[in-house]
Amino acid sequence: MAFKNVSFFFLLVVILSLFTLSSQRPRPRFRPRPSHGGRRRPDHPSMARGISCSSASPSRFQPHISTSLFFSSSLPLPTTSQYYSTTIVGGGEWSLLQETIGVSAMHMQLLYNNKVLIFDRTDFGPSNLTLPSGKCRYNDEAVSEDCTAHSLLYDVASNTYRPLLVKTDVWCSSGALNSEGTLIQTGGYHGGDHKIRLFRPCDDDECDWIELQQNLTVHRWYSSDHILPDGRVIIVGGRSSFSYEFFPKNTFENSFYYFPFLKETTDWKEENNLYPFLYLLPDGNLFVFANQRSIVLDYKKNKIVKEFPVIPGEKRTYPATGSSVMLPLKLTAGGWDGSPWQPAVEVMVCGGARGGAYMKAIEGLYVAASRSCGRIRVTDQDPKWEMEDMPMGRVMPDMLLLPTGDVIILNGAANGTAGWECAINPVLNPVIYKPDEPDPDKRFSVLNPTKTARMYHSAATLLPDGRILVGGSNPHVRYNFTGVRYPTELSLEAFSPPYLASDHAHLRPSILSVEGPTNNVVSYGQQLAVTFSLGPYQRAGEYMVTMAAPSFTTHSFAMNQRLLVLYAVGAHQLSAFAHKVTVYAPPTPNIAPPGYYMLFVVHQGVPGQCVWIKIK
Ligand SMILES: *[C@@H]1O[C@H](CO)[C@@H](O)[C@H](O)[C@H]1NC(C)=O
Ligand SMILES: *[C@@H]1O[C@H](CO)[C@@H](O)[C@H](O)[C@H]1NC(C)=O
Ligand SMILES: *[C@@H]1O[C@H](CO)[C@@H](O)[C@H](O)[C@H]1NC(C)=O
Ligand SMILES: *[C@@H]1O[C@H](CO)[C@@H](O)[C@H](O)[C@H]1NC(C)=O
Repeated sequence: MAFKNVSFFFLLVVILSLFTLSSQRPRPRFRPRPSHGGRRRPDHPSMARGISCSSASPSRFQPHISTSLFFSSSLPLPTTSQYYSTTIVGGGEWSLLQETIGVSAMHMQLLYNNKVLIFDRTDFGPSNLTLPSGKCRYNDEAVSEDCTAHSLLYDVASNTYRPLLVKTDVWCSSGALNSEGTLIQTGGYHGGDHKIRLFRPCDDDECDWIELQQNLTVHRWYSSDHILPDGRVIIVGGRSSFSYEFFPKNTFENSFYYFPFLKETTDWKEENNLYPFLYLLPDGNLFVFANQRSIVLDYKKNKIVKEFPVIPGEKRTYPATGSSVMLPLKLTAGGWDGSPWQPAVEVMVCGGARGGAYMKAIEGLYVAASRSCGRIRVTDQDPKWEMEDMPMGRVMPDMLLLPTGDVIILNGAANGTAGWECAINPVLNPVIYKPDEPDPDKRFSVLNPTKTARMYHSAATLLPDGRILVGGSNPHVRYNFTGVRYPTELSLEAFSPPYLASDHAHLRPSILSVEGPTNNVVSYGQQLAVTFSLGPYQRAGEYMVTMAAPSFTTHSFAMNQRLLVLYAVGAHQLSAFAHKVTVYAPPTPNIAPPGYYMLFVVHQGVPGQCVWIKIK
């Protein structure tokens, strides 16, 4: 991409905006907590009775939906504000992008061309989105002919989408982008559980899913994937799959590796260890978290090289689903000259549910979700979990890293677990967590609520402009829009965190050019000069340059998510409008596996639109 060509245009825009600048009155950052007095308590026992929660696994636990009480979808949406420990509620803005995209957004992957691949499962009967004429699937498990789409490509800029044809069942599957930005998507259910599928981004609206002839060695349903420093993908676990494997495989490699840790962390009847949290560490090993345990795996030698203390409190992985992030990696002068420097790594895990909560939910008892978060510095000699409480409990949260290095926690429920009809009391307010805030009382803030419950089978992902795309929620066996308490959600929303408020517009940086990359490709340790503009005559305050890997999000875990704070060596003001900062690209593929990243400039806590760069 020729960044320099756009700079003249940007300059023009900046000059024009000088004349149209309207003075914006600053808005109060926080509004007082809205009162919910007089509303019917959503968690009244009589409302819970009769809804049966059933497992996603028909083979292990018979789905039994013996609903004796039906709830009209016009019930007032339950809110959970009565549980907040803080009186501060405010900031951020929700907008409805699409009332329906016809498909419930169970899985999401942002691609480098600013399109988001969204897909559900295929064996649910017809969706509400029709495939282009002539395209159908036959002899599906649900219907003999299905001419509806279960996947689509959403275009962020135009807010439009087009249906895609995914042939085999991708239900509860996993994925990772490879170094070329192609999605490697693995596994699923029944006929799809050994499948490997590709999605190559294109700009001509021609691309669609590609199913490979080659299969996974082991069926993978509820597994997690991560890209590795050599560009391959590791696929870990899945229901009753106590192993991992790679794609593509080296010829000298075993077809799969037995991984007893996954068997050991399986709770009787409940599991509580599916969709393990995976992070590639700067030493090249893999951090693996399941249930309440975590380890460092040397996947090349199939050896556990470190085990961490058990996280206190609740269970954290499916169906006692919490979420997790690896906190931003802060890069310094070390490493890029070949020295063995590695950044400190801290993993954070939030929410989840008590052991036994899933079996209780099946009986119609929705126990309170976990309120706790744990942080552990995995690179310490003697790491320990530091625990703190979220403003409210949450099961099935989505945790995403913002370009600023803060963490947003959204979606999910206050009671119950993941699974069909297993949760009540959607938590509608996102919270922001500031990992570097020294005062523990100021780390969390509660933001403005959505109106839409996003529970089981919902997803969220960071967009290139700093918004969060939110969709999905289908806690039922089929698409069900009536007669159920939390109807299937086909809508797509965006949440704009407080940094996007219009009163911050003058602070927002616009990247004008990135010098250094050749054809947009950056090499490890390379120096990059990032030129950006601020509002006219805006003096540059504190700023940083970050790189975010686009994640594959499903079931409350954003696989491959990582945020790198780049090492900056110099900054100066070029003109009334332009500023230039020199940074170093990450030093090694262990710190930044090859592929596409969103490069953000963050100025006084306000990020601008990213520029995509590819590191190789
Ligand atoms: C989806 O389609 C069904 C059947 O045509 C219809 O009843 C339902 O209202 C639609 N739902 C949405 C959210 O579009
Ligand atoms: C992959 O599995 C399918 C059955 O699901 C089979 O038809 C196909 O031959 C397998 N591919 C290879 C390369 O073995
Ligand atoms: C839901 O959780 C809250 C605490 O978050 C608890 O007070 C309440 O009793 C729970 N509701 C049910 C129905 O168990
Ligand atoms: C939706 O749920 C209701 C209540 O459980 C049930 O009666 C109905 O058959 C379901 N609809 C579909 C399409 O599964």
